[in-house]
Amino acid sequence: MTNKVRFKAGMYLLETLTSGMYNEPLSVYREYIQNAVDSIDQVAPGAKGNFATDITLDPFRKSIIIFDNGAGITAAQAEKTLSSIGCSGKIGTRQRGFRGIGRLGGVAFAERVVFRTKAKGESVESIQEWDCKSLRGLLTDPTRATLSIEEVFGKVTLFKQGKSSAKERDSFFEVTLEGVKSFRNQIFDIARIKEYLGQVAPLPFDPQNFNFASEINQFLSENLDNYAEYQIRLNGSPVFRPYSDLVKVTNKGSDDCIEDIKLLRFEVNGSPIAFGWYGKRKELLGAISKGEGVGGVRVKAGNITIGDEHLLDKCYRENRFNSYIIGEIHVQSPELVPNSRRDDFIDNDMKNLFYNILERELGLPLSKEIRQRSRLGKDVVGEKKTIMAAPGTAREAEGNGKKVTEKASQDGPKTENSIMQAILSQCKKCERFEKIFSEAQAS
Ligand SMILES: Nc1ncnc2c1ncn2[C@@H]1O[C@H](COP(=O)(O)OP(=O)(O)OP(=O)(O)O)[C@@H](O)[C@H]1O
Ligand SMILES: [Mg+2]
Repeated sequence: MTNKVRFKAGMYLLETLTSGMYNEPLSVYREYIQNAVDSIDQVAPGAKGNFATDITLDPFRKSIIIFDNGAGITAAQAEKTLSSIGCSGKIGTRQRGFRGIGRLGGVAFAERVVFRTKAKGESVESIQEWDCKSLRGLLTDPTRATLSIEEVFGKVTLFKQGKSSAKERDSFFEVTLEGVKSFRNQIFDIARIKEYLGQVAPLPFDPQNFNFASEINQFLSENLDNYAEYQIRLNGSPVFRPYSDLVKVTNKGSDDCIEDIKLLRFEVNGSPIAFGWYGKRKELLGAISKGEGVGGVRVKAGNITIGDEHLLDKCYRENRFNSYIIGEIHVQSPELVPNSRRDDFIDNDMKNLFYNILERELGLPLSKEIRQRSRLGKDVVGEKKTIMAAPGTAREAEGNGKKVTEKASQDGPKTENSIMQAILSQCKKCERFEKIFSEAQAS
């Protein structure tokens, strides 16, 4: 006779899915934005109309709120959806998420997380609260080590529904992280967040600074199934992808400009697997300064970046050549599946084909060009050149040679005062932040 052993999933799985998932605290923003834009797609495919995601940082209350006016979740579905971990209703759709874990990212950095949502045409809102402080207490208490993930979930979460003060025709999903802490307070470093979002989130190009925005957008939306740009505001100010017609070059004492773009299409056996573009630099001498946040061709799925600026380094003759180039590759093949940390794709044959094709058709030809230009460039060593921004762009208006991209602040302990100063210096005209600031001063 055999005894059937009951399967048990222990509570440390929750630790793996929260603090174990992301090395970079800012990844939390990516996960909530991804959910927001998936939801906006449901009510407004292509993000047309008045749809946006608002991120509000309040360093006084140590809170972060991410609010979107996408579809929300119906009162009938909310408890089931928010109480499922590791499975997602998005499977089989063109939505970006599918693992059913992304929303847990904030649990690692907050004392309390609250999800609040309402669907259009309903008057009831649903709320799920996570007591993350108690969760951490349980996870570090050896006497509770035998608890199952289900038992812990029951102890640390609370679900409720009630009448909403929002209008019936409105729908929303709001994530509130309270008592937020992260290493060196990076999660509140507004310059860093802005730079991170610029490089990772599915933001619009800044047409004031980048002349090729509409040409690229047209090409990508014609060819990709799920390409769109989404409005995201940080403490009330819209954020853009950082590309511009002018790039700062490391160690050359000069700028370079993007004279044109090349549109890219990558195929396997006659079927397209990815589309993209890169900027043709006038000089192509030297790497683009890191602080610009544009060097290195980025890889995107659903317009959200996979990995970082170094993901394609190995496709070039020398890794550093990638940092000479601005550009994006947007994947189209459903076989290119982001891994759970979203720092690369899961291993399969298509991943191999993808990197091989990028090496052959992008990295190697560009490496050759960089080397050729570098040889030619030696003839003009010593001459410091100033490249002019395209006429009429915001860059030109601000003056050539002047650094116009905010550089993320250096690593280092962030005092509350320095966080405040950073936010104040960037959000002077931001109504929402002024309100937070005056409330904090009054209290
Ligand atoms: N902003 C939102 N608007 C509407 N529904 C949301 C929102 N955020 C989360 N949800 C719902 O909660 C579910 C769980 O979100 P979660 O981020 O954990 O997983 P996912 O997005 O399905 O997959 P992934 O782990 O890949 O992100 C989603 O599938 C969706 O149904
Ligand atoms: Mg998600």
